[in-house]
Order: sequence, then structure tokens, then C-alpha cells
Amino acid sequence: MNLTLKIWRQSDANSKGKLVDYNISGVEGDMSFLEMLDVLNEDLVNKGEEPVVFDHDCREGICGACSLQINGEPHGPDRLVTTCQLHMRKFNDGDTIYIEPFRAKAFPVIKDLMVDRASFDRIQQSGGYISVNTSGNTQDANAIPIRKEDADDAMDAATCIGCGACVAACKNASAMLFTSAKVSQFALLPQGQVEATERVMAMVNQMDEEGFGNCTNTGACEIECPKGISLENIARMNREYMKASMKG
Ligand code: SF4
Ligand code: FES
Repeated sequence: MNLTLKIWRQSDANSKGKLVDYNISGVEGDMSFLEMLDVLNEDLVNKGEEPVVFDHDCREGICGACSLQINGEPHGPDRLVTTCQLHMRKFNDGDTIYIEPFRAKAFPVIKDLMVDRASFDRIQQSGGYISVNTSGNTQDANAIPIRKEDADDAMDAATCIGCGACVAACKNASAMLFTSAKVSQFALLPQGQVEATERVMAMVNQMDEEGFGNCTNTGACEIECPKGISLENIARMNREYMKASMKG
């Protein structure tokens, strides 16, 4: 395949960025999107030009690092996959592909296609944990009865990889899907009850402080989420928040 790539180049958060055209040839359908960018970068380095900076780590859909807006969609045109799992067979010979960073005030551009998602870390740090007695008398988690449905829902919520596609897809740059997944995975389990009130208040407050927008029930986040995190988690977080607010 021969492709035209229109790639966002930006030196740092304070500089103005712009789309730059690149032509690439010899792209195979079995290549991943990131492998295609590797080929481009090898070519740029060989020509003495600066390679395109993009984020990646596991390259198997686990870490959530590969945050790219491809033709206007976070993680590109495929469903339930991350950018590193997206194959070039989803594109056609002669295509023009727009490649941009995830755009949100709370995700400042570090360079080119790489954004700083430390705001997600701070939300997580504000309450996304449980306290466990590690004195030696720790209760075996398997000895605590949990409804199958609750265990399944908690596990589904826990599959959120913190990629930020939900924010990038949202017209309000809302982080409600991410935050609600992190709240839900504990809210559904007995282990999460002790700190439930403080957790939801702290995580929602931190989310607001970071500058993410509010949810207006559009649902774009759920569609673009590579892990299929359900909007039901947002409804659950709102219930948890209301309960916590009433407790004061
Ligand atoms: S909810 Fe989905 S889209 Fe949002 S950070 Fe988690 S995995 Fe990514
Ligand atoms: S590089 Fe880890 S999810 Fe894509």
C-alpha cells in the first residue's frame, strides 16, 4: 500500500503545531498501525530528519499508552482495539490518513503525538485503592462471598487501561467513563466499601480540578473505548456520589 500521512508535529505544549504531509510506501496489511509509524520513522532517521514522537509500551492492548487520534477517531476505525492492535488492512491503497494526538486541556501535548496523561494518575491516586491489613492476619479474598454478577461487573470495570480514548472522543473532554470505571471496580466489591464515601468524593473532585468536562450522555466514549467499558459505570458513579454527598 502507498499512503499519504498527515501527521501533527508540535515541539512542546507551548509551541504551535501543524499537520505535515508524509508519503509512505510498502505498507503491508498485516502491519500494526505503530509498525507502520516505525517504518516511517526509520525512513526519516535515514534521511537525517526528526522522527515522529508517539507513545507506546506493551503493543498488545494492555498498557493504554498508544493514544492516537486516527482520522478523527481515538484508536482509529476499528472497534474494541487500541492503536497498537489496529491493523493496516483496515485502510486502502492510496488512502490519506490524519494522525493527531488525543486532544483535551487536561492532556497537554509533550511532543508531536505524545500527550501527558498524568491527570489520570492523579485521579487514580486520589482514591483508586483499598486499604488492606497486611499484619499477617489478612483475610483470604476467596473466602469472601461475592455475587457472580457483581464480580463480573467489577472485573469488566477493572479492564479499563487508562488510555484516555473516552476523553478524546467526548465533545466535553469528560473523564467520566474512566473515573467511573475506577470507582465501580471497588464500589461493587465488599473490599471497596470501607473507603467508598471518601473515594468517590475525592476522585470526582480531582477529575473536576484537572479540567475535564462534564458528561452530557452522548455516549461517544463507550463507542470508542477499546475495552468496551459501559456507560452503566457512569450511572453507578453518580449514584455513589449522591449517596456520599448525603452522608456529608
Ligand atoms: S474507559 Fe475505556 S477509553 Fe476510557 S481510559 Fe478506560 S479503557 Fe480507555
Ligand atoms: S502500546 Fe500498550 S495498549 Fe497500545
